[in-house]
Amino acid sequence: MQLLKDRILKDGVVKPGNILKVDSFLNHQMDIDLINEIGKEFKARFSDCPITKILTIEASGIGIACIAAQYFHVPVVFAKKSQSVNLDGEMYCTKIESFTHKKVYDVILSKKFLGPEDHVLLIDDFLANGCALLGLIDIVKKSGATLEGAGIVIEKGFQQGGQQIRDMGVRLESLAIIDSMTDDSLTFRE
Ligand code: G4P
Ligand code: NA
Ligand code: NA
Repeated sequence: MQLLKDRILKDGVVKPGNILKVDSFLNHQMDIDLINEIGKEFKARFSDCPITKILTIEASGIGIACIAAQYFHVPVVFAKKSQSVNLDGEMYCTKIESFTHKKVYDVILSKKFLGPEDHVLLIDDFLANGCALLGLIDIVKKSGATLEGAGIVIEKGFQQGGQQIRDMGVRLESLAIIDSMTDDSLTFRE
């Protein structure tokens, strides 16, 4: 998506540890006109899929998912990161390991909001090692819903998450895939 790539080149900042800061337009301050175009692009790419629900994970996936959902006319449900899981059988639970934050989260979703009748589109802001997305895929599997695909705003193509998830047969659409980045250069996959 050219508009997004141009914006990353203009306003993205590369930080030590292969972190791309996009907090002036995507995940702290949010440029709603841009995110609206992102939502439209997800709809265009998944227009052939009978999506009934968009699933994301708190926090930064939520705003993007909500704007996209206005084009799909389906509810958004977001998985919650929780420190202490109440295993009462009412929740789907999975574990997500964050390499960036060096932490393991329990992630939960109420069984009320996802079931075998659903066709799910996953949406998130970043795909790096893939831990968040793999956790969401695990929740979809546990729910018996059909996974239609995943829409990612920025994929860091030099980390292994994208490859791993495509190898699982998941339809993965990333609007910008970064193949390499240094302080003064950033290369996108064609
Ligand atoms: P993974 O899910 O792909 O394995 O990512 P990883 O554990 O490495 O990253 C943990 C968090 O950092 C995720 O957000 C992920 O979206 C975000 N992240 C990963 N790489 C980058 C990057 O280069 N730039 C920015 N800005 N974020 C990155 P989170 O902490 O799970 O969620 P949230 O609360 O921020 O949404
Ligand atoms: Na995220
Ligand atoms: Na994030």
